[in-house]
Amino acid sequence: MRILGIETSCDETAAAIVDDGRRILANVVRQQLEEHQPFAGVVPEVAARAHLDQVDAVIGRALDEAGLDWRKLDGIAATAGPGLIGGVLVGVMTGKAIAAAHGLPFAAINHLEAHALTARLTDNVAFPYLLLLVSGGHCQLLAVEGVGRYRRLGTTIDDAVGEAFDKTAKMLGLGYPGGPAVERAARGGDARRFDLPRPLAGRAGCDFSFSGLKTRVRMAVEGLPPGPLKDQDIADICAAFQEAVADVLASRTANAIAMFRETHAEGGALVVAGGVAANRAVRDRLARLAADNAMPFAVPPPGLCTDNGAMVAWAGVERLRLGLADGLDFRPRPRWPLDPEAPKAVGAGIKA
Ligand code: KG4
Ligand code: ZN
Repeated sequence: MRILGIETSCDETAAAIVDDGRRILANVVRQQLEEHQPFAGVVPEVAARAHLDQVDAVIGRALDEAGLDWRKLDGIAATAGPGLIGGVLVGVMTGKAIAAAHGLPFAAINHLEAHALTARLTDNVAFPYLLLLVSGGHCQLLAVEGVGRYRRLGTTIDDAVGEAFDKTAKMLGLGYPGGPAVERAARGGDARRFDLPRPLAGRAGCDFSFSGLKTRVRMAVEGLPPGPLKDQDIADICAAFQEAVADVLASRTANAIAMFRETHAEGGALVVAGGVAANRAVRDRLARLAADNAMPFAVPPPGLCTDNGAMVAWAGVERLRLGLADGLDFRPRPRWPLDPEAPKAVGAGIKA
């Protein structure tokens, strides 16, 4: 089974072809760097227009890279939410049109499920597993029990962790995209120079909070001598911020491991996914936590943590081989929780 996956929910226009033998036959990602850099962040309408401009060419390149034509495909998968609705509509309409024209089944993919299942493509991880999903819009801990079967153990009560990286980058003038810029700057930094908080660490449960950390980063920046920021100041703040984030993620995930084991005595791996999982400090810290708890550990390679078409194609493989095709009347969902039963987090905004 060979599936074409289309991803357009944020600022990457991406298409990939993946088969049910876990092979990535093509993987094309076009980032919208020039489009959003002048605004130091993603502008939804600019993103939607760029997807519209680029999506056909990106899909064409994926077919070329794989050396395939439409007749060799067995289905089309497209991210149908959650995300910026203009971009989601572009991907879904394109995917449906291709499916209709070539008589192929269509799978409407939840972007979060695509992140959640990527470790099964890259590392063949078996269900159930404990997932830390860290992206630009989400920060959740979930028990992954099967395709379409998620139990949320914790979520952020304010900002997502990727958002905290992006805002830190903006405060320090590092621009867009923020996460990779903070990671680069942190390399030459001394994490001990600034004392930043670890919100909720050591407390019961496994919800997250990042807004207090963001405020303290702002205070640290404001406490510096007036004038342009020095590279060493930026590096030290980034290092301290990254270490605080890694500490918080590890401490909340430690609680989640205990919760996961209460209901899954048979065990399971710890998996980290989403754009922030591309971060070396985060990957290393969570790997150590898994080792300390004698848990198998998996994190996709960085290029498959940030948004890509391969994760969408793979989610399509997982769903279509279970017979879970969607109709061409499927309505895109700007909000689409993985665990619809989970209560809204206390104090949570729209993201939880
Ligand atoms: O999964 P993703 O590509 O898109 C969403 O689904 O949101 O995640 C994007 C987020 C952004 O906030 C970005 O700054 C962050 O992931 N990110 C990183 C790194 N690469 C991407 N954060 C920290 N370190 C990185 N290397
Ligand atoms: Zn994503």
